[in-house]
Amino acid sequence: MVVERIKSGVTGLDQLIGGGFPRGSVILFSGGPGSGKTTLGLQILVNGAERFNENCVYATLTETPEDIRKDAASFGWNLEKLEKDGKFRLVDARPTRFLEEKQRGEGGTFSTWLWNSIQKNTKDINAKRVALDSINVLTSQFTDEYQERQAVTGLVEALQGLPGCTSFLVFEQITMERTREEFLTQGVVILHYVPIKNGMMRAIQILKMRRTEHSENFHPFEMDSKGIKVNAEETAVFF
Ligand SMILES: Nc1ncnc2c1ncn2[C@@H]1O[C@H](COP(=O)(O)OP(=O)(O)OP(=O)(O)O)[C@@H](O)[C@H]1O
Ligand SMILES: [Mg+2]
Repeated sequence: MVVERIKSGVTGLDQLIGGGFPRGSVILFSGGPGSGKTTLGLQILVNGAERFNENCVYATLTETPEDIRKDAASFGWNLEKLEKDGKFRLVDARPTRFLEEKQRGEGGTFSTWLWNSIQKNTKDINAKRVALDSINVLTSQFTDEYQERQAVTGLVEALQGLPGCTSFLVFEQITMERTREEFLTQGVVILHYVPIKNGMMRAIQILKMRRTEHSENFHPFEMDSKGIKVNAEETAVFF
């Protein structure tokens, strides 16, 4: 069976995952604070819109849209232009927005509000790449493990139902232990940001990628004014 893949366009990343992410899959980007999750998500979407003719929807559940535009601009990515050209939608999906709309009498739960918004925006511009940053905002409202799992599974299934669309879920993960969310997506990319002798080191790991022969190593990556660059030839040793 031939798996259709979409290129991330991030230097060094596609070769770790057999040429790209399987089209239509839902991928988790997991990592601690400052590990590069938002940057990786933005970079893959901007590449999609600018180089691969794939329109994109970025739903921010944490930072304001204005902050996301500034984050992107610091890497030289002009989201405003892409938005004006109808190639990119930055969706304000913060819970405060949901509460404002709820006060105006709109019904439903946060999960349904979030999904309706993603679905509408994806349809409007026929988006082929979607990112949600972060899903912890969605899951942290549940105290019950079953409900939390249902919320993520429901979201993953719904995203998979978007025609030809590949999705990226940012997940805030501090420890190196395994978490439930990692079981629920087709792929997991971990961004490590770990102390070494003289400072911090960045490395990327493909924990899983269904239907893909992928690297099992930690690979060092750099973040500079152009974004993320993975060194696929090198491996990082932490322990
Ligand atoms: N323009 C830039 N040039 C080089 N490095 C940058 C630049 N902008 C940000 N960084 C680095 O990237 C880090 C932030 O990356 P990013 O926002 O993608 O992390 P994150 O994993 O999303 O963090 P959080 O969980 O806090 O949202 C900064 O702390 C800094 O180290
Ligand atoms: Mg972030």
